[in-house]
Amino acid sequence: MSSTVFDGIGLLYTADPIREEIEDAALVVEDGVVRWIGRSADVPAADERVDAEGRAVIPGFVDSHSHLVFAGDRTAEFAARMAGERYSAGGIRTTVAATREATVPQLAATTALLVIEMTAQGTTTFEIKSGYGLTVESERRCLEIAGQFTPETTYLGAHVVPPETTPDDYVRMVTGPMLDACAPHARWVDVFCERGAFDEDQSREILAAGIKAGLRARIHANQLGEGPGVRVACEMGAASADHCTHLTDADVAALADAGVVATLLPGAEFSTRSPYPDARRLLDAGVTVALATDCNPGSSFTTSMPFCVALAVREMRMTPLEAVRAATRGGARALLRNDVGTLREGAQADLVMLDAPSYVHLAYRPGVPLVAQVWRSGRRVV
Ligand code: NIG
Ligand code: FE
Repeated sequence: MSSTVFDGIGLLYTADPIREEIEDAALVVEDGVVRWIGRSADVPAADERVDAEGRAVIPGFVDSHSHLVFAGDRTAEFAARMAGERYSAGGIRTTVAATREATVPQLAATTALLVIEMTAQGTTTFEIKSGYGLTVESERRCLEIAGQFTPETTYLGAHVVPPETTPDDYVRMVTGPMLDACAPHARWVDVFCERGAFDEDQSREILAAGIKAGLRARIHANQLGEGPGVRVACEMGAASADHCTHLTDADVAALADAGVVATLLPGAEFSTRSPYPDARRLLDAGVTVALATDCNPGSSFTTSMPFCVALAVREMRMTPLEAVRAATRGGARALLRNDVGTLREGAQADLVMLDAPSYVHLAYRPGVPLVAQVWRSGRRVV
């Protein structure tokens, strides 16, 4: 059993509501777990020492929404959008065609590179969805690949109806043989509830089938326009409703009442040149907000949580504190995890040391690589 003390931390952001920020802080890690947190002056002895030299430390980011298993390229689609085209759900089919053609080693290699990018930017826990295979075998293998990288795997067979079938036949497949093949490899079930993808009844049916198979629900809701997604999430006990870009007052109240996390994905609004969701409205109503990257080749090709934090502060009326909280504890809440996303005694020792005196710099110095060191379960990974 060896222990490490991190001391000389100018500002420790713990994300723990009991003592959320500590100046001149230290923490002790033992066996991958945080054992002690307090002021540098009071720190107990440990076997090894890491001197933060006045820098800030925060919990590793929890990216609760990503689509990392895919093949192909949609650079031209992005460029066309920046020249004035609109984003639509249909672009997903381009990636589906490429993903079906790719081999397992190719898909795993692409995913691994994106995971390396995430880690380098301070993400220590992340979710990965399927959703670019859309056949029984292809969805299953995408989930198997995702499972090599994270326990937080999500079955998103209901991403869009593939061109070779009809909506009715496809929903039967997603709730039948595809679910049977995928459920053993997934923790979560998700559906893209949106015009051009799946409607309210289909979404309910798909989530209900997943829940019956032992999965927990999350949903892509209200991204491109107002719609039933958030209501479905609240009525079906989903852990999180993701996107939440276009909400009615009733949607906001329902999220607050049901305790469903609103996961905001500002990379998608950035990359589709769309209006950002109003996080202030959700926070003021008492909704728990999470921030995630939505990393995917179509609507948000970023792995960077610091970028999302900066966007949230500048474009979504969040304070730097609220944005960092949403990117750590909020993401953990969206995944129903209480062992990550906060630094407190007993939590997993996932921490990020910033080349900055405060987490505020994540928004104050946008685009600057401030992640200096990353530790996951007490092991240095960056
Ligand atoms: O979360 N909204 C649905 N799925 C992705 C986009 C997928 C794509 O365009 O390839 C998203 O934004
Ligand atoms: Fe998504």
